[in-house]
Amino acid sequence: MGYIALGSGMNGKLVIGNWKMNGTLASNAPLLAALAAGWRSSPQTELVVCPPAAYLGQARLALQASAVSWGAQDVSDQAAGAFTGELGAAMLRDMGCRYVLVGHSERRTRLGETDQMVAAKARAALSGGLRAVVCMGETEKQRAAGQALTVLRHQLQVVLAALPRTAIDHFVIAYEPLWAIGTGAHASADIAQQVHSALRAALVEALGAAGTGVRILYGGSVKASNAAEYAAQRDVDGVLVGGASLQAAEFLEIGAAFLPIR
Ligand code: PGA
Repeated sequence: MGYIALGSGMNGKLVIGNWKMNGTLASNAPLLAALAAGWRSSPQTELVVCPPAAYLGQARLALQASAVSWGAQDVSDQAAGAFTGELGAAMLRDMGCRYVLVGHSERRTRLGETDQMVAAKARAALSGGLRAVVCMGETEKQRAAGQALTVLRHQLQVVLAALPRTAIDHFVIAYEPLWAIGTGAHASADIAQQVHSALRAALVEALGAAGTGVRILYGGSVKASNAAEYAAQRDVDGVLVGGASLQAAEFLEIGAAFLPIR
């Protein structure tokens, strides 16, 4: 295992489905029902779905008696007030969310979310009792120029500077190289391990022993056919899955790849 369990939280493997802006009430129902029926509770591995915010109520009803957790895809950096269209961490907790994705590259690119905005959202999420899954990754151009690790260390540093240290075991990183998201071109397990190990070293340098407990997920074209390669890597503590999380059997198989006994 690439981490040690910390006292206060469940820091096992984590398999998260990011539905992005997909689904309808009608299409979500069988997907949620199949996940609820197909996933058995495991102290070592947690399965999580992040549907669009409009469907969090539906997910809550469908999953509350199951072993599957749910989360949101974004959170406001503000707690409450005159912020039209935003969703606060407390509201997401109210809807039973355990997790929230923060700083996904689609939001950074399309909506101009900066490292500072991402850090403020992560801080609000952790302060509000959510587990914040902070996404980071390099572009193809940055990788080609040999700058991948420099870019990632910088993205990490900005977030770490903003985080309340008391909630650090609720901080999760998702390494998502931009060239691998939705492209079918997944990073090899070797590349993932190399990057995760560099991120782990940066975490330990910044946080000491607590840095070993921060989970680092890989994301980018993860499928049932490649999940086991990632699961075998020392510093890959789980995966963030986009497209393949929209099919129950495929997503359950990815989850199973991260169970200790198969
Ligand atoms: P993908 O998306 O699995 O469809 O590549 C991953 C993500 O964007 O989180």
